[in-house]
Amino acid sequence: MIKIAPSILSADFANLERDIRLVEEAGADMLHIDVMDGHFVPNITIGHPVVKSLRKKSKLIFDCHLMINNPESYIDAFADSGADIITVHAEATVHLHRLIQMIKDKGKKAGVALNPATPVDVLQHVISDLDMVLIMSVNPGFGGQRFISAAHQKLSKVRSMTQELGKNIDVQVDGGVGLDNIYDIAKSGANIMVAGSAVFSSGDIPYTIKEMKRLCEKL
Ligand code: DX5
Ligand code: ZN
Repeated sequence: MIKIAPSILSADFANLERDIRLVEEAGADMLHIDVMDGHFVPNITIGHPVVKSLRKKSKLIFDCHLMINNPESYIDAFADSGADIITVHAEATVHLHRLIQMIKDKGKKAGVALNPATPVDVLQHVISDLDMVLIMSVNPGFGGQRFISAAHQKLSKVRSMTQELGKNIDVQVDGGVGLDNIYDIAKSGANIMVAGSAVFSSGDIPYTIKEMKRLCEKL
């Protein structure tokens, strides 16, 4: 069963509580929270104080995608603010193993994200410690970009790695996911679909989330 993680990057930032309730009632499985620092990516979004405020408003799983430099300095803050899953970029640290342990020591689920140009081989010696791998299917920084098709091969590779391990590790995909391509993406091995613009700009959030799930049912 695939899971849908709407990205609040495409929500109305002046009405976050309303928009989060909309996706929660529409059957979203988790909430994808894009944290950008203007350094690791060329955009700035929200930080842990916003996560802390939203935590009081929603029971959804908070899936925090940190697109920031020096992620080591912010793990405690995001964990203490109510993140359930903390995903860090392999490209943002020279001590990936230590960073993963920091997240796990806080009792949170740990994810590692890979930019489109980063080979999946970097995961080889850490994947057994992970709860989730995030394959970026756009260059991070903005919503509404086109899905980069090379992500299919990366998703299949990561899925094979998790199957070889025999461990229940989620494979998440982020960027350019919509009704037109979600089935093929699921077929390649992703089981958690991040969708920003496809959900929030659809005009009918409940329909879009249900349709995304229905399209993947035949797998
Ligand atoms: C991009 C973010 C994504 C973004 C996806 O850097 O990590 O989560 O919100 O947006 P869409 O689904 O519109 O491509
Ligand atoms: Zn994201």
